[in-house]
Amino acid sequence: MPYIPLIPLSELPENSHKSVRSGKKNFALFHYNGIITALENACIHKGGDLGQGFIQTLEDGELYVACPWHGWQYNLKTGKAPHGYRDRQAVYEVIVDNGMISVSEEPLSKAFRAAHDVDPVADLRNLEYQTTEKSINVLGISTTNMNRDLPRPSTSETALQQALDFAASEFGASTKMIKIRDLNFRHCEGYYSRHERACTWPCSISEMDGEDGMNEVYRSMVLWADAVILATPIRWGNASSLFYKMAERLNTVQNQITVHDRVLIKNKVASFIITGGQDNVQGVAGNLNSFFTDLGFTFPPFNFVGWSRGWIAEDTENNYNQFFRSRYVKRSVRELVTNTIRLVMQIKDMDVSHLHTPKPKISEAGSLSE
Ligand code: FES
Repeated sequence: MPYIPLIPLSELPENSHKSVRSGKKNFALFHYNGIITALENACIHKGGDLGQGFIQTLEDGELYVACPWHGWQYNLKTGKAPHGYRDRQAVYEVIVDNGMISVSEEPLSKAFRAAHDVDPVADLRNLEYQTTEKSINVLGISTTNMNRDLPRPSTSETALQQALDFAASEFGASTKMIKIRDLNFRHCEGYYSRHERACTWPCSISEMDGEDGMNEVYRSMVLWADAVILATPIRWGNASSLFYKMAERLNTVQNQITVHDRVLIKNKVASFIITGGQDNVQGVAGNLNSFFTDLGFTFPPFNFVGWSRGWIAEDTENNYNQFFRSRYVKRSVRELVTNTIRLVMQIKDMDVSHLHTPKPKISEAGSLSE
């Protein structure tokens, strides 16, 4: 079998590993326990760089490399995934001759990506949209936080419930409320920072964990909703921290535009309810508008309702009562819903086979070498 000379042994000391390119081929070389092994470098999941991976000893006592992108693991000698998985990375024969490491041109065993029996996010992967020409699906997202055992009145959530009730009674809309505080999900783990293609759709955290609470948001927002009404309190002049936790996990939606020019959110409308004991309604609205426009949402005129009693309104116990009695709130919530649903009806006919996305794209990214 022909062999490809790669690097001198001195460049791969014991307890080290690295990726080495030769022409179009890229190998991950490992030197552990006195043995040198070689795997195909590109992870079979999404192409992560195994030569930059982490070495781990698993329960079978064998050494594995964990891909630095999302942690898929491969046995250093056999290329096999851990017990319970049938995936396998390609393995190359290694010879060391005259202090030079060479690998076989062809793999001893080829890579194999098993079809997983259960794909918990198949509907997200296949973008099984649930909207129709006639649907008016209104999703409420409440981002306020509270103790489930000691619930307290919330201005933002009360107004959101009023909005959903009005959408159902006035327009016959189907409605759904998601309370972010009830969902159990991990923070975004920033895989994008490793490589632009490491932020995937569906999110790799969802792929790893079918019980990931964000799946409820992805399904409802991307697949089901025609309109999203998001409600947030103002915390330190900003939206709630739960909003940001959710927003960071929505990188997976926005990065599809950046990396693949692929828009997942089409013909969907967003509006907001922003309430705070003190101020900065406009600042929060600007932030929310900026984020939701980056996802692909469309906005009706006057797309937020705000409530704030001002800088010195420290008598917070009076806030909810005043809010609840306010004729302004009742009227403006109804008008927000009306504007939102009317826009949903208008844009149903828009051609969204391709949406222009005047955003930065990976294909246009500059580099230091330019
Ligand atoms: S690319 Fe390797 S685990 Fe995702």
